[in-house]
Amino acid sequence: MRRKVIAGNWKMNMLPDEAINFIQELTPLVKDTENEVILCVPYTDLFYALLNAQDTNIKIGAQNMHFAESGAYTGEISGKMLKVIGVEYVIIGHSERRQYFAETDETVNKKVKSAFENGLKPIVCVGETLEEKEQGKTINIITTQTRLALDGLSKEQVKNTIIAYEPVWAIGTGKTATAEDANDSIKEIRKEIAKIYGNDVAQCVIIQYGGSVKSSNARELFTKSDIDGGLVGGASLKTEEFSKIVNF
Ligand code: 13P
Repeated sequence: MRRKVIAGNWKMNMLPDEAINFIQELTPLVKDTENEVILCVPYTDLFYALLNAQDTNIKIGAQNMHFAESGAYTGEISGKMLKVIGVEYVIIGHSERRQYFAETDETVNKKVKSAFENGLKPIVCVGETLEEKEQGKTINIITTQTRLALDGLSKEQVKNTIIAYEPVWAIGTGKTATAEDANDSIKEIRKEIAKIYGNDVAQCVIIQYGGSVKSSNARELFTKSDIDGGLVGGASLKTEEFSKIVNF
């Protein structure tokens, strides 16, 4: 059986002192969970988060990385830089990066490969916009994004990729996909992976749902057959609310 993975995406929130307090408060609230707990924090919080999450079951991730290992890329951070300080996970291809920072399927794929080369586990985001949903393109968009993101990876790497299905219209809007719709979309993503890499691989891949996940809807979403946890934005900024989601 696949494990459940609950990841918080703090986005551009939380100063170091807030991050430290958050992790110290969260630690006892999630210590007994069987679910995997990840916090994806801003670069400036990484060091503090890693120190404070030591000897806890909370794993730390970044929210983006560059695909090159080093070089003249002012303002960027490489996978190697993340790995050496102890980061385990990295979100790649979040819709906000696709929308505002020119992230493409091609750069997503390069970053996913570079993440693996540097020993990081990628959390790859896919999802349709409201316009695409209304045009009936959801399945085409999410399976295409998945296929292109994973292109050229080994079966072993695909097994170790986390995919986050995040309908863009559900992010930060309070609108959640119904648990049935989210589960159906995730099944399509899994089918696409099975087509290319085989069903044994597809059955191992963790596929999360993201988009207005809260403590009040987490249980319904995360108990569906194919939803393996969530990528949580706004509700990951409050310890009590986030711990309830982790302990759904
Ligand atoms: P919200 O949970 O705030 O809708 O954000 C979802 C998200 O983008 C997580 O990556």
